[in-house]
Amino acid sequence: MLAACLLALPLTAKTNTLSEKDMGAEAKQQEQYWSEQQKQKKTIRSGELWPDDAGRHINAHGGGILKYNDTYYWFGEHKDEHTSNALVGVMCYSSKDLVNWRNCGVALGVTPSLDSLNDGTPSGNGSGISSDIESGCILERPKVVYNPMTKKFCMWFHLELKGQGYSAARYGVAVADRPEGPYKFLYSQRANAGTWPVEGSPMGFDEYLKRDFAGGQMSRDMTLFVDDDGKAYHIFSSEENFTLHIAELTGDYLHHTGRYTRMAPGGQNEAPAIFKHDGTYWMITSGCTGWAPNEARMFSAPSIWGPWTQHPNPCRGPKADKTFEGQSTFVLPVGNQYIFMADIWRPKHPIDARYIWLPIEFEDGKPVIRWRDEWTLETK
Ligand code: GAL
Repeated sequence: MLAACLLALPLTAKTNTLSEKDMGAEAKQQEQYWSEQQKQKKTIRSGELWPDDAGRHINAHGGGILKYNDTYYWFGEHKDEHTSNALVGVMCYSSKDLVNWRNCGVALGVTPSLDSLNDGTPSGNGSGISSDIESGCILERPKVVYNPMTKKFCMWFHLELKGQGYSAARYGVAVADRPEGPYKFLYSQRANAGTWPVEGSPMGFDEYLKRDFAGGQMSRDMTLFVDDDGKAYHIFSSEENFTLHIAELTGDYLHHTGRYTRMAPGGQNEAPAIFKHDGTYWMITSGCTGWAPNEARMFSAPSIWGPWTQHPNPCRGPKADKTFEGQSTFVLPVGNQYIFMADIWRPKHPIDARYIWLPIEFEDGKPVIRWRDEWTLETK
């Protein structure tokens, strides 16, 4: 595992030109930095640079975390200096304490851009047609779940085909035999074509649902959730971002079953992050203001199928009305605690986007997220 993580460090122009001796020295330096860091760094400081085992700011935005055996794996979008489009793909980092993270490299790589080849040979899937996940596409909010039946790691993400802005509105699926990958891209498409939601004949804010019935529903900001009974769900912004869909997955977690419900129709929710506490499902979302922060929303339900009830903003403290300048991405259960994870986007310098990780407290039975400059996490 250790070796795999070290070897999988993304190649930079610098490491490309290093001699073997220099690379050995660099790896040694990195090891030293890592063991020092692990001794010292025990606290989480939201909004600050978060160095990995090589001292580089973690590059895993719009991310989510998978716990497998006693290790946590953080998956997220690799962001570039100048563009939010995917030039690398999905990154993976691993950790035992959720504070110190090792760079495991690229979990799912985008395929080389057709434009980048000067010999005229198409790359990608080798069929002469460019791949759906061609470099320059938009690949956002990757989430990974483990399927104990197939023993596969299943990654779902929001995909926008290269050069089409946000109009494709698809989800993509990839699969791997090991948590850190490499993931094999399987397919991308719109959701639940030709299928009405479980509510049956749709009512209210159904203009786009009807419009996209035949071709498939739009699928943008998303997360995955595995329930206690092993059933998994894909939760995504659909219908021009007006309405969230919660769609059940097949037993192998690689497809929709066709059973889905609409949540908060017309509510314009994005960035869904879900968790279950004492039998109640809680969902935190954002409004739709692109990269700019807005006030978080919170919902609860007695069943994943609803009915969902909206509650006031759970954030407390400075800039609580703007989700501390972030946007939700995931809620991670750790023992009997939950960590709220969000992104502070930097659209002009995407690689410098920051992370918000805060503990979720319960007050009068409802989740509350209080700003803390610094806090210590007990993983035991
Ligand atoms: C946000 C969304 C991000 C990204 C961005 C693009 O609302 O949550 O994942 O798609 O818009 O403007």
